[in-house]
Amino acid sequence: KRRIAVLTSGGDAPGMNGAVRAVVRMTIHRGCEAYVVHEGYDGLVCGGNMIHQMHWEDVRGWLSRGGTLIGSARCSSFRERAGRLKAARNMVLHGIDALVVCGGDGTLTGADIFRSEWPGLLRELVSTGDLTEIQIRPHATLNIVGLVGSIDNDMAGTDTTIGCYSSLNRICEAVDAVFDTASSHQRGFVVEVMGRNCGWLALMAAISTGADWLFIPEMPPRDGWEDNMCSIINRNRDRGKRRTIVIVAEGAQDRNLNKISSTAVKDVLSTRLHLDTRVTVLGHTQRGGAACAHDRWLSTLQGVEAVNAILEITPECPSPVISIRENKIARASMMEAVRQTQKATELIKAKKFEEAMSMRDPEFRE
Ligand code: F6P
Repeated sequence: KRRIAVLTSGGDAPGMNGAVRAVVRMTIHRGCEAYVVHEGYDGLVCGGNMIHQMHWEDVRGWLSRGGTLIGSARCSSFRERAGRLKAARNMVLHGIDALVVCGGDGTLTGADIFRSEWPGLLRELVSTGDLTEIQIRPHATLNIVGLVGSIDNDMAGTDTTIGCYSSLNRICEAVDAVFDTASSHQRGFVVEVMGRNCGWLALMAAISTGADWLFIPEMPPRDGWEDNMCSIINRNRDRGKRRTIVIVAEGAQDRNLNKISSTAVKDVLSTRLHLDTRVTVLGHTQRGGAACAHDRWLSTLQGVEAVNAILEITPECPSPVISIRENKIARASMMEAVRQTQKATELIKAKKFEEAMSMRDPEFRE
C-alpha cells in the first residue's frame, strides 16, 4: 500500500485541520495508508514519532477546529540541504513516498526544492551508508502536492487561500466591536491588520466594515494623503458619523517605500482633526479561532483533490498546487504559483504599484 503523509507548515490558518482531515480520510478511502508529520518540516527533519500513521477516527471533530492540531513551524533546518537530507532519510525509513504540504509560499517553495533534489538526496544517502539500495528502490520519485493555507490570501493562481475568510470574519467582528465604543465616545480608531506584504485582508475588511480610509502596500497613498484623508473624514463627520475608522495593513508603505505606521496615522488624526484617537492592533487574534464555513468546505474539497492529484501525477506537472478559480477546484504548477506570488512582492519593491495590484487582482481598478 502507498503511504501518503500530510504536514502543515508556516503560519497556522483556520481550515488547516479540515485539510488534514480530508487528506487522511481520502487517502484511506483510496486504499492507501495515511500519515501525519508533526511540527511542519521540523517533524520531517527529526523523524521518529514525529511521523505516524493516522486512522479514520483520529481526525473526528477536526473540521471546525482553529490552528493546526498537528503543529506547525517556520523551520530553518529544512532550508539547508543537510536538513532536507535528514528529511529524505526519515521519509524512506517510514516508507512514505508522497507528501501533501499545507502552507504559504515559503512552504511550497521548500516542497518544490525537496522534490527536485529527491533523486540526488537518495543517492547521497546510499553513498554515505545511511540507506541501502534496497531501501531506496521503491522511492525513486517523490510526489508532492501543495495546499495553500495562509490567512494572507497572497498566493497567485488561486482566488482564495485556506484561512483567509475566517481571518476576515474575525477582523470584521473586531472592527464592529470597535465601532460600538468609538461611536459612544465619538473617537477615531486606527485598526492594524495582518497580511504581511499583501493588502487583501485590509482591503476586504475596509469594504466589509465601511471604514473611512485604508492603507495597503499595493496602493500607497499619493503625496498629500494627510489632507485627503482628513477632508474625507471631516465630510463623513459633517454627515453625522460619530466614529472614524482607518484600517492599516501591517505592510502599508508610502510611495517611497517608507512604512506607514498606525501611530503615525493616529497622530495625523489627533493633531489635524483633534480627534481622540486610539490604535488597535488586532495581532494574532486574526489567525486563531474556529474555521468559518468557507474554509471548512474549501479545505475539505482541496484535501480530497490533493490525494487524487498525488495518485494521478504527470511528468508535465510533477508537483501541483491545488487552487480554486471561479469557484472550481483546480490544479496548477506549484512553482509557477510561487513565482507569480514573489513577482507581486518584487513589483511593490520596484515601486510598480499598479502592476502589483493587477497581479493580485486582475479586475482591479483604482
Ligand atoms: O502569514 C501569516 C501571518 O499571520 C502574517 O499575516 C504575519 O505577518 C505573520 O504571519 C506573523 O508571523 P508570526 O506569527 O511568526 O509572528
